[in-house]
This record gives sequence, C-alpha cells and structure tokens, in this order.
Amino acid sequence: MNTFENQVAVITGAASGLGLVIAHKLLYEGARIGLLDLNEQALNDEFVGNPEQEERIGVDVTDEQRVAQAVARVAERFGKIDILINCAGITGATNIKSHEVDTANLQKVFNINFMASFYTAKAVLPYMLQNNYGRILHVASIAGKEGNAGMLAYSASKAAVIGMAKVQGKEYAETGITVNALAPAVIQTPLVDAMPEAQVKYMTDKIPMKRCGTLEEAANMAAFIVSPENSFVTGFTFDLSGGRATY
Ligand SMILES: NC(=O)c1ccc[n+]([C@@H]2O[C@H](COP(=O)([O-])OP(=O)(O)OC[C@H]3O[C@@H](n4cnc5c(N)ncnc54)[C@H](O)[C@@H]3O)[C@@H](O)[C@H]2O)c1
Repeated sequence: MNTFENQVAVITGAASGLGLVIAHKLLYEGARIGLLDLNEQALNDEFVGNPEQEERIGVDVTDEQRVAQAVARVAERFGKIDILINCAGITGATNIKSHEVDTANLQKVFNINFMASFYTAKAVLPYMLQNNYGRILHVASIAGKEGNAGMLAYSASKAAVIGMAKVQGKEYAETGITVNALAPAVIQTPLVDAMPEAQVKYMTDKIPMKRCGTLEEAANMAAFIVSPENSFVTGFTFDLSGGRATY
C-alpha cells in the first residue's frame, strides 16, 4: 500500500494512543511525517525504523509560537505539508458535576483540545494553500456531539473542535483543502486508562455494539479521511462510536 507516497503529514499526540497508530499506518503507506508530542522520550522509543520518513519534535502544542516553528521545520525538511491530524488531547478532571469543575482545569483542557488544534491548523493552512491541496483532521469525540455527564470541560472543548471543523470546511471548500473531525466513542488508550472507572463504564455502556473501538479501526478511518480519495466531504464529523451516534 502506498496511498501516502510523496505526501507530508503533521500529527500531534503522535507518541501514544490514536496518534501513534495513525502515524504508524501513514508511515507504512509511504508518508513522511512531522511527529509532534510533549513526550519526546516516548516519540524516540516508539519510532525507530524510518528516520528518513520522520521528523520527531518534542513540543507543547499549546505554545502557538513553538507550534509555528515545528510546522515550519517539517515543511523545510520535507518541502510541503499535505496532511494535519490533531490527536493531542486530555480529558482533564472527570466524573464531576459542573459546579465542581475547577476553572483552571477547564481552561487547560480547552487550551490543549481546542486552542492547540487551532494553532496547528493556522500554521499548516498557508502551506496547503500554496499547493491547493490539504487534508485536516481534528480528532474530536462523541462527548462533543452528545455531551457526557461528568465531563464538562472535555465535552465542551470537543464540541468547539467540531464547530471549528464546520467553519474551516466551508472557508476552504474551494481550495482543494478539506477539514473534517472524527468522533470516537471509547478506545482503550492511556487516556482512558487514567479515567475513573465509573466514568469509563458510563461511556462504554452507551455503545450499542457493547464493546470499545479498536486502535486499528480508528487508524483505518483516520487514514481514509485524510486520503486523496476522500475528496467530496468537508466540515463533517465522522462517527466512530459503535452505533451510539446515528446522525
Ligand atoms: N481513547 C478514546 O477513547 C478517545 C475517544 C474519543 C476521542 N479521543 C481523542 O483522541 C485523541 C487521542 O487520544 P488518546 O486516547 O490516543 O490519548 P493518549 O493519552 O494515549 O495520547 C495523547 C497524546 O497527546 C500528547 N499530549 C498531551 N498534551 C500535549 C501537549 N500539550 N502538547 C503536545 N502533546 C500533548 C500526550 O503526550 C500523548 O502522547 C485525543 O484528542 C482524545 O480526546 C480519544
């Protein structure tokens, strides 16, 4: 498979979970990738075999200036940017009601889940506009579509991400750039492992298929969304919820 031969991607949150498997799939299918994550050590541990295809960058994606520098470094090394996949994300405190939410924690969640996705999109779009081609995928969540009780900060930040994909999809619709979001239900990753058991049960019980999604299912769907084949869908939030969201 060489779907992504001659294509250059930027993936945030590439050191773990969804970002990690999506990055491996795109590498395998020929992409050259800027791998961005706060956890530089994990990036170095997880990516060993393809130095000529990888630019590993330890960066806090909530720092707009450092994001712009990281994106410029990828474009300089590989010559262009075709794909952006925003996977970096956190849940913040969960299993609490809105009156118990700590404002600083909510702001931190928004900074990573929403603001950072805005910064990366803002940084890559000029490169994509140069070539009249681009695929942006913001990884949102079913929580953003449905609103998970106990997860105000996370759900609201992911709803904001879905709103951004709708806006950006329309803004760049005539340019060859598509912007979409993905709304997974529960997929076992370190992010889910770190959540209170009661909150994970609440989310998993709502999945009609009565199972979690797999990392492979997430990687396959993400790869399709950012492929050249996916050319007539933009501003859309793809579902990956085992039947929870039928809209
Ligand atoms: N796992 C699920 O069930 C699930 C469901 C719906 C949506 N999502 C979304 O998918 C995305 C990936 O989640 P995951 O489950 O793979 O999580 P994960 O915790 O396994 O990976 C997240 C990665 O983001 C990185 N990161 C966090 N903050 C960062 C920052 N400030 N700067 C740079 N990197 C940072 C972490 O170091 C980590 O490597 C997230 O946006 C998450 O909200 C996950």
